[in-house]
Amino acid sequence: MAVPNLSVVKDAVNWPQVQTASFVAGCGMNVPERVVDNNHFASYLETTDEWIRERTGIAERRWSAPEVCASELAEPAAREAIAHAGLTIADIDAIIVATVTPDYSFPSTACLLQRRLGSVCGLAFDLNAVCSGFVYALVTADALIASGQCRNALVVGVDIYSYIINPKDRGTCILFGDGAGAVVLSAAAPAGNPGGASRWASGSAGALRGIYASELGADGNGANLLYVPNGTASRPTPESYAAGEHFLRMDGREVFKVAVRRLCDISEKVLARAGIAVGQVDYFITHQANKRIVLSMAKHLGVDESKVLVNIHKYGNTSAASIPMLLAESAAEGKIKHGDLLLVTAFGGGFTWGGVLLRW
Ligand code: UT7
Repeated sequence: MAVPNLSVVKDAVNWPQVQTASFVAGCGMNVPERVVDNNHFASYLETTDEWIRERTGIAERRWSAPEVCASELAEPAAREAIAHAGLTIADIDAIIVATVTPDYSFPSTACLLQRRLGSVCGLAFDLNAVCSGFVYALVTADALIASGQCRNALVVGVDIYSYIINPKDRGTCILFGDGAGAVVLSAAAPAGNPGGASRWASGSAGALRGIYASELGADGNGANLLYVPNGTASRPTPESYAAGEHFLRMDGREVFKVAVRRLCDISEKVLARAGIAVGQVDYFITHQANKRIVLSMAKHLGVDESKVLVNIHKYGNTSAASIPMLLAESAAEGKIKHGDLLLVTAFGGGFTWGGVLLRW
């Protein structure tokens, strides 16, 4: 079969000529078995199931057993993504893990995951952009593929926040869950790429799967509104540990406002960069921090709620894992299909934010 020139294409929604370096070839997810519902918190804190559901959209979350580390939680998600892409571990030549709850300070969780997978080739490193970590990692992998560094990148978001939340702080402990999600990002050019043939989206003649536009941002002035004081700037002592001073801290009200503003801004910027209207997007995949944040963003953008995918009720805020988990679950349930145009956006500590427009 003749191989089309994939670097310059015209798609089904009358896109201008676009260049794409990579596409999502496969996805997977993994969550711990233990379900923690809102009544767990109501049993020892001044809170209720009703308050948590109304203010956050969360009904339950998953928490890992204390002996489980990030690379262990990530491994099944990674294997599922690789199999879903129709690839084997030997095809993976880059591993990027977005996490703020690594196995160790070093070596990286990416290297430890590489060892678990039995892979010996390619590059591996961790990336810290908190809840925006997966979007940062996706954009980084796309750039590495575009530069020819690798052809099939395993991009993982994994976090175990049950390890860093203060169980006595009702403003934060109710929000977070543990989980892992992964995608395989493959080079668009088909030469030597086993996933290349599946890149054509069936049912939408001429529509090419791939990353069409992206943008990242950060503002370190927001650092003290969401942080974990456990590092060289805040060295733990036995007393500070006993007082729980090493746990996550957040000014939720302020973070909420900035999150909505930045998510709207980044959505508009990415769409403008791609030259398409908000109405042309099939689904909005936004970091699952709070259902009200996601719906406020949709309202500001004038987007119908039916286009906004949500699974926070089941998993809470899983930080870097929330987007790849939502992608994997939505794909498995048939909500998103090959050919759908997705706007993926995230906001998190730092502050950091980012957006990616891609055809699934
Ligand atoms: O992943 C990215 C980073 N994270 C986020 O984006 C999270 C952003 N923030 C939020 O999701 C929300 O701000 C929260 C869910 C954390 C809090 O909801 P809120 O509607 O913004 O509440 P609030 O902070 O304005 O607090 C309202 C009241 C306060 O009581 P007073 O001062 O009015 O008497 C809080 O103490 O609600 C109280 N409150 C609670 N009450 C019952 C805070 N947490 C709870 C709770 N149960 N769990």
